[in-house]
Amino acid sequence: MPIIAPSLLAADFLKLSEACKMLNESEAEYFHLDVMDGSFVPNISYGLPIIEQIKTATTKVLDVHLMIVSPEKYIADFKKAGADILTVHYEACPHLHSTLQQIKAHGMKAGVAINPHTSVELLKEVIKDIDLVCVMSVNPGFGGQKFIEHTYEKVKVLKQIITTAGATTLIEIDGGVTENNAAKLVAAGADVLVAGTTVFKAADPKQMIATLKAIR
Ligand code: DX5
Ligand code: ZN
Repeated sequence: MPIIAPSLLAADFLKLSEACKMLNESEAEYFHLDVMDGSFVPNISYGLPIIEQIKTATTKVLDVHLMIVSPEKYIADFKKAGADILTVHYEACPHLHSTLQQIKAHGMKAGVAINPHTSVELLKEVIKDIDLVCVMSVNPGFGGQKFIEHTYEKVKVLKQIITTAGATTLIEIDGGVTENNAAKLVAAGADVLVAGTTVFKAADPKQMIATLKAIR
């Protein structure tokens, strides 16, 4: 059964406390929070003050996905705001190994996100240092986009790299996840499913989380 990580991006921002309450009562384990800077990605979302507030209202693991340039500058700030898992983009980190060590030194799990064009092979040398790989199954920046089919193949290769290295790295899929592609993703090796639109635009979000969670 996959770990479910609903993405706040698709929620009604005027009703954040309702979103937190729904999530707390659901079977989701993570709350996926997307931070965008308008530079690494062509969109601006929200930042530290929102995450601080969410932290006071949720019992779930805060899975923070940084789509920003120079993420290493803000590691202490996101720890202070309440992040449990801090994910940086491979494409934004010239000194990835060092950044991962800094995240862990601050007491958080370290994640690496890769864009659709980035090969999973590039993570081989640091796979044991990564707690979670976030495989982007859309181009980062916006919710509600169409799932990129090549993702299944990437997940299979990544799973092989993790197994061969004897690592415990989790594979997270982010973008365009629905109840229709979730089973195939889990079969390919996915451990964590991020779902924004699929959860928050569902008639019954809590039930949708349960449906995704029941997949095996
Ligand atoms: C996209 C974000 C995703 C987004 C997913 O850049 O990283 O987390 O919220 O949204 P859906 O599930 O709607 O594709
Ligand atoms: Zn994300």
